[in-house]
Amino acid sequence: MKVVVIGGNGTIGSAVAKALGANGHQVLTASRGSELKVDLQDQASIEALFASVPNVNAVVSCAGDGLFKPLTDLTDADFELCLRSKLMGQVNLVRAAAKHLLDRGSVTVTTGTLAMHPMPGSAAISLVNAGLDGFVRGAGLEMPRGIRVNAVSPGWITETLLKFGMDPSPGLPAVECANVYVSAVEGADQGKIIEATKLDVTPR
Ligand SMILES: NC(=O)c1ccc[n+]([C@@H]2O[C@H](COP(=O)([O-])OP(=O)(O)OC[C@H]3O[C@@H](n4cnc5c(N)ncnc54)[C@H](OP(=O)(O)O)[C@@H]3O)[C@@H](O)[C@H]2O)c1
Repeated sequence: MKVVVIGGNGTIGSAVAKALGANGHQVLTASRGSELKVDLQDQASIEALFASVPNVNAVVSCAGDGLFKPLTDLTDADFELCLRSKLMGQVNLVRAAAKHLLDRGSVTVTTGTLAMHPMPGSAAISLVNAGLDGFVRGAGLEMPRGIRVNAVSPGWITETLLKFGMDPSPGLPAVECANVYVSAVEGADQGKIIEATKLDVTPR
């Protein structure tokens, strides 16, 4: 399959790109800073990506900004960034993918377990993840031409915990999280939120 991984140079995305490549897929990575450019906050750039890369079977997004901040410190601009980037950026990616992917293709976006299991500082990101969960479930009922849409919902990634000097023991290594994305691309799920945590890798 020809697969575009958005955020393919990030912690999760680079592992996903590698795992898909190892399974024999033709993988192209895209992001704001990559050679193949896309900014999820800019719908025109999503359309330009599909115009420049024809005949794509699957697109995976491991991208989108969310902010951790105490509730009373969150500004209007903070909420706007989270909504424009991780939420509407990925929603607009799904809308474009529904038009441009080959028949029976798939789009896989990234949400997060903070939708269901919030922690102090996660209000904005929990809002975005929960919104994405609802969108994916609803969109899965209406995708055209046999195209599937699913979301992977990671918990903490080991490499991220280490980067922030936190205890890595509750984390899932990025390489294991990547296998969940590969299953979403290669499998038959439609409209599912697939958890990828250390203890639980199940659709809900
Ligand atoms: N890491 C974790 O523990 C964890 C846990 C749960 C959920 N998640 C979610 O998983 C996703 C990826 O996390 P990560 O830790 O892998 O992040 P990361 O290492 O910061 O990588 C993010 C990637 O996304 C790209 N990107 C960011 N904004 C973009 C935009 N507007 N348009 C296009 N590309 C964009 C970045 O590249 P450029 O800068 O070049 O654009 C980079 O390749 C995020 O949505 C995050 O909320 C992560």
